[in-house]
Amino acid sequence: MSMWGGRFEEGMSEITRDYTTDESDRRLLEFDLRGSIAHATMLGESGIIAGEEADQLVSGLETILSEGLEFHDGDEDVHSAVERRLGELVGEVAGKLHTGRSRNDQVALDLRLFLVEGAKSQLLALSEWIDSLIDVAESHQGEIIPTYTHLQQAQITSVGNHLLAYAWMAVRDAERFKACADRLAASPLGAGASAGTTLPIDRARTAELLGLGPPMENTLDAVGSRDFAAEYVFCCAQTMIHMSRLAEELILWSSSEFGIVALGDQVSTGSSALPHKRNPDIAELVRGRASTTVGDVASLLALQKGLPLTYNRDLQEDKQIVFRAHDDAHGSLRALSHLIRNVEFKSGAPDAGTMALPLAEKLVHRGVAFRESHEVVGALILTLESQGRSIDQVTPEELTAHDARFEEDDLPIDAPVPDISGQIAALRRWREDF
Ligand code: ARG
Repeated sequence: MSMWGGRFEEGMSEITRDYTTDESDRRLLEFDLRGSIAHATMLGESGIIAGEEADQLVSGLETILSEGLEFHDGDEDVHSAVERRLGELVGEVAGKLHTGRSRNDQVALDLRLFLVEGAKSQLLALSEWIDSLIDVAESHQGEIIPTYTHLQQAQITSVGNHLLAYAWMAVRDAERFKACADRLAASPLGAGASAGTTLPIDRARTAELLGLGPPMENTLDAVGSRDFAAEYVFCCAQTMIHMSRLAEELILWSSSEFGIVALGDQVSTGSSALPHKRNPDIAELVRGRASTTVGDVASLLALQKGLPLTYNRDLQEDKQIVFRAHDDAHGSLRALSHLIRNVEFKSGAPDAGTMALPLAEKLVHRGVAFRESHEVVGALILTLESQGRSIDQVTPEELTAHDARFEEDDLPIDAPVPDISGQIAALRRWREDF
């Protein structure tokens, strides 16, 4: 059933219908119904339609909410499908539902409601991700691995400390989703097609019934803007990027060259050709899907660029982008949480070079300028290298002969394993409060 047609003599061609129909918005059904229930309730309360009519509309909409609905080929979008089904259920009064409303404010509302729920599910998945990182970090506080800068071994740290870096990134991702959800939970309803309606609707009431913040002040902004969706997709993308960096590390670390990680059977995939393979496909797909999500941010920005106010049909394309970004981030969080709990970490036996800084700092403790101690240790490394040796092979006698400010018991060089208990406690407090 079409929601319009009075001014047309002929029906729309099949090509036009097929090309303009969007089936992806069916996913908005629940939110569309919730929005319509609030709208119909408000219409009744404001006396724009009779109370009895409002009751009929609400009860029909509630039936669809509980039963679901079968979409037909002729349904242009989710909004028209609901109105068609409502007509089947409650008869002619269904035609009053769209009073004082347009699909333009309706679809903006539906997407906002979807994203309010979407953010809640991302926060749950992020919490699970953060918990996994904390748990795995806690049980790997003693496994030493190198840190890398420029992919060259730099200093030593623990597997636990390395993983907690990702926990802090995820904390910021969660806070970003929350702030985004707070901002987007405003009601566009009542903006109508673009500049409202002559009917005495109560915008504050529908917003209140939907548990949203106050109605958006500017109706053109309310129907024409999608920055809220782009921001949400950015939140997904940044979360994906953080996961992708760890995914890349897990891929590298599980190679025989690095050998820092062994993937459990549950999270490994085999090769159809090479019997010996144990492949890190989850991590590779997280890395791959991160690229899609980055593209989603670009797509949603490009969709808005150059659009004159207010609503333009281009905006119909926003939903597929938003859904994909949402699903990719959510699915990746769950899969990577599962992966990280099913890998075995091995100490990485850092290169001796990672001891250079702690050795130079021995002299700093004795008042030597860091720039000078850097030079002294650099020269020692140069000498040792010319003999095919490394810094961990220097003898106490050689060390003190190289520079008298060294002491024999500066060896063996000790670099403390970081104590991550404070970070773990802070992260757990954050989890309780969030
Ligand atoms: N399916 C449309 C969308 O997603 C709904 C709004 C249609 N509005 C219109 N004026 N044709 O954007």
